[in-house]
Formats: sequence, C-alpha cells, structure tokens
Amino acid sequence: MIAIISAMQEEIQALLSELENIEVTEKGMRKYYTGTLFEKKVVLVFSRWGKVASAVTTTQLINDYNPTEIIFTGVAGAIKKELNIGDIVIGKKLYQYDVDCSPIFKKFEIPILKKEYFETSNPTKIINATNLFLDDYDSYINQIDAEKFEIKNPKLIYGNIATGDQFISESDKVKEINEQLPTVQCIEMEGASVAQVCFEYDIPFSIIRIISDKANDNATIDFPRFVKSIASNYALGIFKNYLT
Ligand code: ADE
Repeated sequence: MIAIISAMQEEIQALLSELENIEVTEKGMRKYYTGTLFEKKVVLVFSRWGKVASAVTTTQLINDYNPTEIIFTGVAGAIKKELNIGDIVIGKKLYQYDVDCSPIFKKFEIPILKKEYFETSNPTKIINATNLFLDDYDSYINQIDAEKFEIKNPKLIYGNIATGDQFISESDKVKEINEQLPTVQCIEMEGASVAQVCFEYDIPFSIIRIISDKANDNATIDFPRFVKSIASNYALGIFKNYLT
C-alpha cells in the first residue's frame, strides 16, 4: 500500500474525490482514508501543519498500514529567485533549518543520527509522472486560476528542501536560509520531519512541493485559493500518472 500525506485537507481533496472503496479510520485527531486510487491501494491522510504533526502522522501510518512507500505532496515557499509560482520541486535532500544543537553538535545536525539532511529514494518514477503532468497541464488546471496566479509554463526542479516550524513571509529570513543552506530551493513545514521518520523506519520516501509563494510580504495572499484550485489538482495529475 502507498501512503500519501498532505498538510492540509484542501491539498488532498482532489485525490479524495477519486478514491474508491473508501474506509475511514479516525485516530489521534486524524482521519486515515484507505481505498483504491487509479486501481492501486492507498492510504491518504492530512497531517496538519508542522514537524510534530507530520512526524506523529507518519509514525501512525507506518505502524498501522505498513506502507511500501510514503509520498508527501503539498505547497512550499520559494527560496531561489529562479522559482516561480506554480513550479514544482521534487525533493532530493531534506534539511531541518531550525535544528541547532551547536556547539555540542554541528548546526543542522540531528543528534544521535549524525545527519544534517535526509535523502529521498530514487526519483525517476516521480519525476516522469510529474513531467507527464506538466505536458498535460491544461487538462487539470483551469485557465482562469492559472492566470490569477500568473502561472506560465511551470517547470520541474529536482532539488533540496528545508523544513522548519515557521510560515515564512519575510525576505530577511529567506536571505538567511539562502546564506546558511545555499543549495536549498524552497521552504516548508513538514518534509524533513516525515523524511526523518521514514529514515528511522527504513521506508522509501518522496516529496512533491508546488511553489505557492515567494516567502515574502505577499506569501499569505490567496494562499487558501492556491491550495484548493492549484495544488490539489497538481497532485491529482501527478498521482494519476504515478499510479497508472
Ligand atoms: N508553505 C508554503 N509557503 C510557505 C512559506 N512561505 N513558509 C513556510 N511554509 C510554506
């Protein structure tokens, strides 16, 4: 069974609408939806925001559903100037930019694990599925929504992601992360905590992040509409290709 996690209900809504033979189990304030998605057995859950919420959800998923792999899908704020709203980052290395146990451990190092980042599993299949979605983008994304968010020719980047318990809407913070972790493409609030749990339990992990904002003063403008009308349909398009 493949497990799919998002931080918000709106992000998995389009997938939920396609899920067949649904069974819902409620645990620890989360709803776990099992069923068949494009003829594959899956479990879908939204974790809520942040590292603790996503780590707890991932642990529950692993213990109760024994998934063969876990895929996180959601939105992120751009760190690199080259990224535009609507671009997709497939995660390679996941950092926790808010971990700092120096001078006992190196900055960003997770104590005991001796790791500054967690790597995702082989990305070929998820990259292919995403490229197929981008080729067929107009079938999933309404032109009015795309224009509203000025999305033109969205691109895919396979790159590094940083996670922390903050919604960032200040250019100074973006600058700081860019200086401290110069390979990071975008920031979000769950990826590296899910990646850590997957590492500890030895489960293959992938992550898809759709750029919703540039982590500046405009970051919160129409965030809910973006998640509902854009991110959710991106997930639908990508998973359709991934699972069929
Ligand atoms: N997810 C989407 N945009 C974000 C931002 N600006 N900061 C943190 N997480 C995000």
